[in-house]
Amino acid sequence: MSFRTIIEPFRIHSIEPLHLTTAEQRAESVARAGYNLFNLNAEDVIIDLLTDSGTGAMSRDQWAAIQHGDESYAGSPSFRIFRDAVQDLFPFEHVIPTHQGRAAEKILFGVLGGPGVIVPNNTHFDTTRANVEYTGAQAVDLVIAEGRDPASLHPFKGNMDIEALEQLLIHNGDRIPCVMLTITNNSGGGQPVSLANIRATSEVARRHRKPLILDACRFAENAWFIREREDGQQDRDVADIVREVAALADGMTMSAKKDPMGNIGGWLAVNDDDLAQQCRALLILTEGFPTYGGLAGRDLEALAVGLHEAIDHDYLRYRIRSTAYLGDALASMGIPVMQPIGGHAVYLDARALLSHLDPLQYPGQSLAVALYLAGGVRGCEIGTVMFGRQPDGTEQPAALDLVRLAVPRRTYTQSHIDYVIEVCELVAAEAHELPGYRIIEEPPALRHFTATFEPVTT
Ligand code: F0G
Repeated sequence: MSFRTIIEPFRIHSIEPLHLTTAEQRAESVARAGYNLFNLNAEDVIIDLLTDSGTGAMSRDQWAAIQHGDESYAGSPSFRIFRDAVQDLFPFEHVIPTHQGRAAEKILFGVLGGPGVIVPNNTHFDTTRANVEYTGAQAVDLVIAEGRDPASLHPFKGNMDIEALEQLLIHNGDRIPCVMLTITNNSGGGQPVSLANIRATSEVARRHRKPLILDACRFAENAWFIREREDGQQDRDVADIVREVAALADGMTMSAKKDPMGNIGGWLAVNDDDLAQQCRALLILTEGFPTYGGLAGRDLEALAVGLHEAIDHDYLRYRIRSTAYLGDALASMGIPVMQPIGGHAVYLDARALLSHLDPLQYPGQSLAVALYLAGGVRGCEIGTVMFGRQPDGTEQPAALDLVRLAVPRRTYTQSHIDYVIEVCELVAAEAHELPGYRIIEEPPALRHFTATFEPVTT
């Protein structure tokens, strides 16, 4: 028996109030924030789709595990519970806890990076790229061509371009310390990587004797897409798929604020003993002793439980379907969204929707502000504000102007999402009248976090 409605496979146990604001209050808040949604007080947001990172709801069992946490400085049993849960899915020799994903990246590239080094990835997430480049190394994105085309319906748009990887390794192999693969490909729209492509990437990396390192934040969503979309995978247990993926790699970085259901946390895992020793030395400098890294014992225990919950089929079916529910509803109203709908977020094509604006008038910023003004929905501009400022100081349009609506895990119900759909519908109807924006003040780097704007009224 199968019903049309896929229900949330949980019920509410403890609630957090939402502050329902009026349009006047929101107009005042966003003006005070310099039209930058990162500057808002979170209480002034009704539905917060800024990120799916650390914003999910923990389960009853995770909160119970928090009580079980042991805060010993060294040798905490909570570390062993955490390590065993990680190794059950990702059986790497060395598991090194960090406070979040970027701390794992900083440590890994502190050892493997440096001037002259090249790191290939399907697409580096911003912090991964920044941590590679900070060491003087070069971050190269080698996603397949379909992954750069918002309209392509390829089922695995996160795939690595295997031929390009092979060529890079042939011509620059001596400069490449590892190959990275981001699952799912966040910067490319939350798009999955197929098992066949992970196998092929692994085969090329191993032939060139390079470790394959997974950026595995959304590993469970990726495995669910493999199960749904890849030939011969339909009857498999997600845990099995995850273990197969892990066996094809030699290590991983992880932001446990995503699929592992943490509000904070991460880890670095590797097989190589020397690499692990060097990473632990850096860990002690910046994060903490190897049995807690940057975390409290209670966080480690919550993650051990979260990892287990993340691979539950009923949860993943609901998770992927509920993100698609939002995306499909918007697409059916004629709102341009990146296709196919990814695992954790829906990406609105602001450049297409606000086609009267030049990219340098920030259509993504304009759309994000309009969604907030109309209904208190906070998304995130991913476009010219984020990527437009060049290292030489000039400004250029980004490849795309998008607004990401990221869906926190287990946090909003279907009626919250129905409300978001209504807000989008209202804003889309008046999109052709939305103003462009100009920047009043911006910092030299990562301007999207703190820049202030004003609408350009003509
Ligand atoms: N890798 C990927 C693919 C990510 O999406 C993120 C974070 C990180 C690494 C870094 O992890 O935040 O724990 O340090 N992405 C968040 C987002 C911030 O909103 O997509 P972190």
